[in-house]
Amino acid sequence: MTARAAAHRWVRPGALGAGGLRYGADYNPEQWPRDVWHEDMRLMREAGVNIVSLGIFSWALLEPRPGEWDFGWLDEVMDLLHDNGIDVDLATATASPPPWLTRLHPEVLPVTADETVLYPGGRQHWRPTSPVFRRYALRLVRALAERYRDHPALVAWHISNELGCHNAFDYSDDAAAAFRVWLRGRYGTLDALNDAWGTAFWSQHYGAWDEILPPRIAAAQRNPGRQLDFERFSSDALREHLRAEAAVLAEVTPDVPRTTNFMVCQNIRDIDYATWAGDVDFVSNDHYLRPGELGRDDLSFWANLTGNLAEGHPWFLMEHATSAVNWREVNPPKRAGELRRDALTHVGHGADAVCYFQWRQSRAGGERYHSAMVPHAGADSRVFRDVVALGAELRALAPVAGSHRERARVALLFDYESWWVSGRDSHPSDALRYDAETLTWYRALLDRGVRVDVLPVHAAFEGYEVVIAPMLHVVPDGLRRRLEEVVLDGRHVLATYFSGVVDEHDRVWLGGYPGGLRDLLGVTVEEFVPLLPGTRVRLSSGAVATTWTERITRVGADVEVIDTYADGDLAGGPAVTRRRVGGGSATYVSADVARAGAVDLLRAWAAEVDALRGEPLAADGRLETIVRAKGGTRFVFLANRTDEAVDVPVTGERVGAGGAGAERAGTEPVWRIGPGEVAIVAQPGS
Ligand code: GLA
Repeated sequence: MTARAAAHRWVRPGALGAGGLRYGADYNPEQWPRDVWHEDMRLMREAGVNIVSLGIFSWALLEPRPGEWDFGWLDEVMDLLHDNGIDVDLATATASPPPWLTRLHPEVLPVTADETVLYPGGRQHWRPTSPVFRRYALRLVRALAERYRDHPALVAWHISNELGCHNAFDYSDDAAAAFRVWLRGRYGTLDALNDAWGTAFWSQHYGAWDEILPPRIAAAQRNPGRQLDFERFSSDALREHLRAEAAVLAEVTPDVPRTTNFMVCQNIRDIDYATWAGDVDFVSNDHYLRPGELGRDDLSFWANLTGNLAEGHPWFLMEHATSAVNWREVNPPKRAGELRRDALTHVGHGADAVCYFQWRQSRAGGERYHSAMVPHAGADSRVFRDVVALGAELRALAPVAGSHRERARVALLFDYESWWVSGRDSHPSDALRYDAETLTWYRALLDRGVRVDVLPVHAAFEGYEVVIAPMLHVVPDGLRRRLEEVVLDGRHVLATYFSGVVDEHDRVWLGGYPGGLRDLLGVTVEEFVPLLPGTRVRLSSGAVATTWTERITRVGADVEVIDTYADGDLAGGPAVTRRRVGGGSATYVSADVARAGAVDLLRAWAAEVDALRGEPLAADGRLETIVRAKGGTRFVFLANRTDEAVDVPVTGERVGAGGAGAERAGTEPVWRIGPGEVAIVAQPGS
């Protein structure tokens, strides 16, 4: 991705298990009496658990009073795990400060935009920029590192936990001071800042750095440039904390790899993980299944992005759920087969570890109804039987470990800043959803059987024949040039509505939309025409828009109109256009054409663009095909996206158990892949 990322070390045999896949969970033995620990060891062995994340929320027990340590219980657990052949991804335990710390130093507590203090009693109640918190946290990190540096169970460090899960945005005075330092670093002068933020508007001009505050609740719309920089700053502030802990660990245990669990998923958009990937020795992610019909594809989307944040290298699935979570409005359990399907879909997208939150379901506390590997019912349960079966299957998948994602020919761009900015207030419509739009196009590509990489926008576009940019709203000059190069190189770009509109300061590009992409796409939009709730606008192709349309008033001479609005105020006007440049092209989709509209468009386009033809093994999109490769072998994961069995002719050797049924009679072996199942075939190839 970047020079920075390329420079750091990626291969972590110790933590990722060169000999096979990792399997385990967050382990919270401090919630249980000792006799349960012994049962845990027996059950972990039965399940094939070979790694646990330990001590994540243990600060209050490890340091019961300031500077007084109690490592006895942790020593015991570390030894017990090691005696049972289980490695430890040891937490730095800083995620949740103990009550004594916040009593002594209430000034570490985070503050919301309306100046509400977030009190202790939950978790993660600390300011990312608090020097006081940092001092106590790093003292704990050092104490742990020195204590366990030579412990044979230690294979990786787990820095904090889901940094920013509850404290991503802090509006305290500490944050204000750090924000100003960050802004000075970015802009150098107040003139540059005033220009970037457009502070001539509403008398917002700053005459001194101290006048600048975080975007606390205000009387009217807050300055968008400041909002965007505050989001960037907040993501960077958490990264600074990550770096500070990592630096201590690097000093004391230079050879132990360090990670922190990202939250690359639909419900967390606060952190630009593309800027974090270079700060960990291996990428880890937590993902929780979205309930309902789009859950499977949603999981695939975020796993795919995680794999590409890791630049195709293996990554670590640090948390997912065996069954229900406890934090949505309704929390249904997973259906039969979903535990296996979810785990193997992550493995397909590059996970070399399959871990859960958590090992044993808590008896008390706010997460007592969250599923675990060992449920309240105990080991004689559907979930634990599935857990044991998955453990056996993961052992059989050992050959897959260490393999890399095979690059797809199609990239779907993902840009955290476009996610932040397109969802801002005071826009033409509050109904725009960046994550939904990107997922719509991802699903349409899967429906067509196309293998695609969900690619962080800063990654290189080289080698991708098609680059799809749904709602790529923030387009600085550099990005515009990179997209233009794709087309000049004879390759293809597709952008959808509300793309290209603003620069890196959320200032509108002038001369008509899609602003930064206007020349590339060869069209000018004079007005956005968002749709009122309940309105439907048909396109000539049959696609239907329900949220957004645009008035395209100029179509370049080299641009073909490939779809028009069929009704509404824009009837007869261009809706979808394609500019051809040599062998390359730039397509613009000015409306939310939904999954069906996107599928039709991709189908028609496939007549001229080979990369969109769909993989033969994808069985017309009923299967998702995911490929990992190493040492002359391709591991093709065939994941059934439907509720019916799919028969597909496959040559190659089956890897692991379960999934595909027996070969059937006939000249070619045909695999039957049951509803929601995942089968893996090994084929020769790099
Ligand atoms: C997050 C946290 C875990 C746990 C799970 C529950 O991922 O990291 O500690 O709270 O959520 O889903």
